[in-house]
Amino acid sequence: MSLKEILEMNLKYLLVGGKGGVGKTSIASALAITLAEHGRRVLLISTDPAHSISDSFDMDFSKGEITKVKGVAGDLFALEINPAAAGDEISQAIGQPMQADQFSQFASIPGLGELQQGLGQDLQSIPPPGMDEALSFAKILEYAEDDNYDTIVLDTAPTGHTLRLLNLPEFLDSFLGRILKMKTFLSNAMKMMKSLFGGDQEKDRTIETLELMKEKVLIARDKLMDETQTQFVKVLIPTLMSVFETERLVEELNQHLIPHRFSVINMVNPENTNCSYCMHRYNEHKKNIEYIKSVFPLDQTTIVEAFDREIRGLDMLKELNTKLILE
Ligand SMILES: Nc1ncnc2c1ncn2[C@@H]1O[C@H](COP(=O)(O)OP(=O)(O)O)[C@@H](O)[C@H]1O
Ligand SMILES: [Mg+2]
Repeated sequence: MSLKEILEMNLKYLLVGGKGGVGKTSIASALAITLAEHGRRVLLISTDPAHSISDSFDMDFSKGEITKVKGVAGDLFALEINPAAAGDEISQAIGQPMQADQFSQFASIPGLGELQQGLGQDLQSIPPPGMDEALSFAKILEYAEDDNYDTIVLDTAPTGHTLRLLNLPEFLDSFLGRILKMKTFLSNAMKMMKSLFGGDQEKDRTIETLELMKEKVLIARDKLMDETQTQFVKVLIPTLMSVFETERLVEELNQHLIPHRFSVINMVNPENTNCSYCMHRYNEHKKNIEYIKSVFPLDQTTIVEAFDREIRGLDMLKELNTKLILE
């Protein structure tokens, strides 16, 4: 069995995730190449600050711009998003943190007390923690929803970050909801003051920007939950630690209704009867593969043996593809 089925699906989002170092970036890169070679217009995105797709392709995608990947017979584009830079961008869109004392100038306006109470902690730290990831996610959706690409292949950061990323639509939605409420309230208050004392009624673009982003998140969420449009590929290595971590990941995927029915067991030791160390590993891996299959019985599982070299550059990625797709 292989991942060949993915080529026949009309996926908008192909997410690749698992524990650190198991081969996510290599597999995401390889699958992105295959999809592009099968006629899809593909954008491969990494939000790992370690800039891993550049290493995998041995090319430079670190400029924060969408770059066409040379040497692929098809339309493959790559982008490394720096979560910190994305965070700066949102801070700019939202504006300077609102200080509690800025509210005092509106103290006499009815309803402000309740609003301030409702916002609670959010006023203390805007942007709140987690905003960097929220912003990189929002940025991904911006590219995904502009219809320039058939498929977005997402090389996710190690598990912990991935899980937070999956929380982001809700987080962003509720966060934006509160910010919008506050901004709308204050801009209405400003308008009222200005009409009393004269002055320009300048338009607040922030609200429009944030509303637009919220809309995109909501549209994308529907697609992320639709198994005909989204699949999360679990990448494992044949160790118990990797299985336990993937089980936790699956719990989160289920909670967020993200479809996942493919797994890849990577770096499996090949059989070599001339080497007792290799045979020991081989037998242990064989046992663990059976265990993994019993833990995820509904999954279509692809086994990829450990290469005798690091997977780096287009030729190696294409070689990895023959294992992922053909075998
Ligand atoms: N099947 C494999 N055989 C040999 N090396 C592999 C294999 N899969 C991945 N690698 C290598 O393992 C390292 C980690 O892979 P990477 O794709 O960066 O993992 P992750 O993104 O999960 O951290 C890289 O050096 C990569 O070339
Ligand atoms: Mg990686």
